[in-house]
Amino acid sequence: MIICNCRSFPLPPEHGGGGYWVGEDAAFGGIMRNKFYITTPIYYVNDQPHIGHAYTTILADVLARYHRMMGVPVFFLTGTDEHGQKVKRAAEKAGRTPKEHADATVVRFQDLWKKLQITNDDFIRTTEERHRRVVQEILSRLYENDDIYRSEYDGWYCVACERYYTEKDLVEGRCPEQGCGRQVERLRESNYFFRMGKYQDWLIAYIEQHPEFIQPDFRRNETLGFLRKKLNDLCVSRPKSRMDWGIELPFDSDYVTYVWFDALVNYISAVGYLRDEDLFSRWWPASYHLIGKDILTTHTVYWPTMLKAMGLQMPECVFAHGWWLVGQDKMSKTKGNVVNPMEMVDRYGADAFRYFLMSAMPLGQDASFSEDLFERRYNADLANDLGNMLSRVMKLVADRCGGQIPRPVHSGAEEDRLRNLALAAVRKMREAVNAMKVDAGLAAVSEVVREANRYLEKTQPWTLARDGREEEMRTVLYCAAEVLRVVGGLLQPVMPSKMATLYATLGCKDAPTLFASLEQWNVLQPGTPVGPMVTLFPKTAKDGSVQIAEPKAVGELGRTAAPTMAAAKAEEGDGAEVEYEQFEKLDLRTARVISAEKVPSADKLLKLEIELGQEKRQIIAGIARHYKPEDLVGKIIVVVANLKPIRIRGLESKGMLLAAADEDAGVLRLVTVDGTIVKSGLKVK
Ligand code: ME8
Ligand code: MG
Repeated sequence: MIICNCRSFPLPPEHGGGGYWVGEDAAFGGIMRNKFYITTPIYYVNDQPHIGHAYTTILADVLARYHRMMGVPVFFLTGTDEHGQKVKRAAEKAGRTPKEHADATVVRFQDLWKKLQITNDDFIRTTEERHRRVVQEILSRLYENDDIYRSEYDGWYCVACERYYTEKDLVEGRCPEQGCGRQVERLRESNYFFRMGKYQDWLIAYIEQHPEFIQPDFRRNETLGFLRKKLNDLCVSRPKSRMDWGIELPFDSDYVTYVWFDALVNYISAVGYLRDEDLFSRWWPASYHLIGKDILTTHTVYWPTMLKAMGLQMPECVFAHGWWLVGQDKMSKTKGNVVNPMEMVDRYGADAFRYFLMSAMPLGQDASFSEDLFERRYNADLANDLGNMLSRVMKLVADRCGGQIPRPVHSGAEEDRLRNLALAAVRKMREAVNAMKVDAGLAAVSEVVREANRYLEKTQPWTLARDGREEEMRTVLYCAAEVLRVVGGLLQPVMPSKMATLYATLGCKDAPTLFASLEQWNVLQPGTPVGPMVTLFPKTAKDGSVQIAEPKAVGELGRTAAPTMAAAKAEEGDGAEVEYEQFEKLDLRTARVISAEKVPSADKLLKLEIELGQEKRQIIAGIARHYKPEDLVGKIIVVVANLKPIRIRGLESKGMLLAAADEDAGVLRLVTVDGTIVKSGLKVK
């Protein structure tokens, strides 16, 4: 549980002027937040952004958006770290000056944030004048107070981490930082030092007395462990003769400031420290510094001691999340496994990407990224569950309710149960956000959607419609539409564009701006015209029939057939009947498998060559987990022969094979014809 040490100041009138109590339960402590200031690390501009940068920034954005929905004033800061050896070296490689390199790279971050719909209130670059001035003023003050002094340095230096180490810091002669382990360089030079060591006892006591200060708990223990060794003073200068890319020391022009001593200051320089007292007292201390576990020491040892020396309050919480791994491996350029978020967004859209990152990583722990995992979750949670529910409901509203939100008539126990579940999810989401468990909040929402789909299966509004039981049908559709409204509101901070579309489909002009509206039921007005029908989450085209091979990932057998079929079916509304002529349009045929092989780097896909009478074709099928290639050769199977060809992982797939999946058993079997038929190309009807 997070406890705030916010000072009190009056809230602006639009927020009720009285502060905001978060969470109603006594168990949740009645936490009061009267403002929310959240930061991301400022990223190095040595290289383009990757999925890790995208993750922290999306997480900050999601938390910022949830807090805005709770009516709390929010300030969300991100930016770039532009000084230091790392950036200088990258610039040299690129044949540019460091500033030119920074100017070129910063745009890549800013473009990505735009694409990912990041709603930061400010973006700070450490090369800006407003930042430089503050860093220099802090240095002057600390120097005058004798918190900074000059001395000889003799030791080791890691360029990647921009940190000095003593002999005993090193691990097997290499950089001791989590996940670094690089070769270090020997250095001997005169430098300026910050008396960090003198704050060691104070820092230990502070951390012990404020368990909320470093989260999760095991990270606090890591820092306390680090503090068991004697804390050295921190070298805060670099001689220009060796490295001149930084902020000049105000008291010695032969030196620039150590990049970390400069970078950490962004959290206060951006909100007006020594520049705009009102602004600064409004936002500082930060509610959260979100960071990855790689920069724990700088944020939980250097930064608090710096703040202490400046006489400033501590941030409420430094929260370190885990790493995205690719499979089991750390991402690295040398391994060539770096996931480019731009590409993911281009392929799947920002909303789906945001949803995956938020739902698939329990905050604090490491998580594994792969496109297969991505598609599985996308198809399960979004295409099959939420998207399909919306399509089913809205199709019937369009066809059977004159395109207007229907008036409920016989609301009963089933409807009450669903309403209670939806409203409980609102509370769970609030709690999850406050407890930094966004993934758990999203899981609660998914569960409501699954329950609502079960409710639809049970009540069968399409059958009610056909049987002329209009009143019951309207009650079911209204209740389902209300669930969609609440769920859409809860998911909006994670998927802002898609949920705006969902709201438009429900006939609402705007998506909700406050949680409070989600805590009410019967909000949709009967008679309101609904918006145009949409397929909110089309199944991934490259996935082809892949989802059929994912028993756990699909809602029900009838919805697992194929992207095109599923989309068509969703458009029609499940349970809708088709005319014989429609069925006749499908060209089902027997086919013989001539050869089969795995598609490289796609663990679910097989490439089949099949024969249809005289014709040969290629089909890509997601059945690799269920059939060995060699077991398929010679088999007579059934395929949809006149399906539009699609490309899956760059390979053409012409047609689709039929199979049945038993979700519970995790089994998938191909449809074949009874023994004695051995010809391919026969019509199946
Ligand atoms: O360290 N998984 O910048 P940086 C999850 N400029 N998050 C990851 C990640 C991964 N695999 N890789 C990186 C710096 N991140 C300094 C910060 S702050 C005053 C100065 C994220 O460009 C995570 O947030 O190396 C990590 O802390 C940050 O990117 C490091 O970004
Ligand atoms: Mg880094």
